[in-house]
Amino acid sequence: MKDYLTANKKWWNEVVPIHLRSKLYDLPSFKKGKSTLFSIESEELVDVRGKTLLHLMCHFGMDTLSWARKGAIVTGVDLSDDSISLAKKLSKEIAVPATFICSDIYELPKVLDRKFDIIFTSYGVLLWLSSIKKWAKIINHFLKEGGMFYIVELHPFTNILSNDFKIVYKYFDKGPYEDDSPGTYTDWSAPIKGVTYQWSYTISDVINVLIKENLKIQYLHEFPFTMYDQFPGFMEQNEKGQYVLKDKKIQIPLLFSLKATK
Ligand SMILES: C[S@@+](CC[C@H](N)C(=O)[O-])C[C@H]1O[C@@H](n2cnc3c(N)ncnc32)[C@H](O)[C@@H]1O
Repeated sequence: MKDYLTANKKWWNEVVPIHLRSKLYDLPSFKKGKSTLFSIESEELVDVRGKTLLHLMCHFGMDTLSWARKGAIVTGVDLSDDSISLAKKLSKEIAVPATFICSDIYELPKVLDRKFDIIFTSYGVLLWLSSIKKWAKIINHFLKEGGMFYIVELHPFTNILSNDFKIVYKYFDKGPYEDDSPGTYTDWSAPIKGVTYQWSYTISDVINVLIKENLKIQYLHEFPFTMYDQFPGFMEQNEKGQYVLKDKKIQIPLLFSLKATK
């Protein structure tokens, strides 16, 4: 494998200008005060006011700043320097205080020396982790005693499916996969080309690495809807704006959420 971090960082920097103009991220509404948090995390992660919150893999920080608007004292971390520059700019522009750090998640202990009440991460993060065991160690490292880790994420079951909803991949194959498919999840026809390196973890991997770090799993929830057009042509939006499969005979988990405490 080539230098996966350099390749992934380059790709993430290149998609920032596309994402910031996308309908999915809807930056204009966010600037006017709309939260970018979806109903799952908004309803499951309440009581953030006055708490310190570390957002791992925060992209350009709209969710981080949405938690700050709810009163959390936030720190967002991401590998992509263009994402972090934009996050800092947004924080100033909307006058919502936040700390943003550009770092590889595994190198974070070298640049951040604090512990947090809440660690949050969401939607499209596990596939970028070269080691899920090290990820859990990072979570444990930055979590205070009595603190809470929360993730809402694409369900690993969907990793076996291609964008055109065919069973193509192996659930138990961890990768890395070299991906050079064009476009990005906000626009599959966007002129983005480049190789990324991705991994795949099972739902038991996620649970077991956290247990190994002595975190106590409070719940694992699975959902039959998702937040973006993951399988174009096969999905439709319901009245709540959630993406569900058009074929109602098919019922598979599309998202999961998990809460663990220390
Ligand atoms: C799909 S996005 C996260 C989505 C976020 N919930 C949102 O909606 O904006 C994944 C993020 O992970 C970041 N990332 C990828 N590899 C990383 C690493 N090794 N360390 C830190 N961040 C990383 C990318 O730069 C990207 O911003």
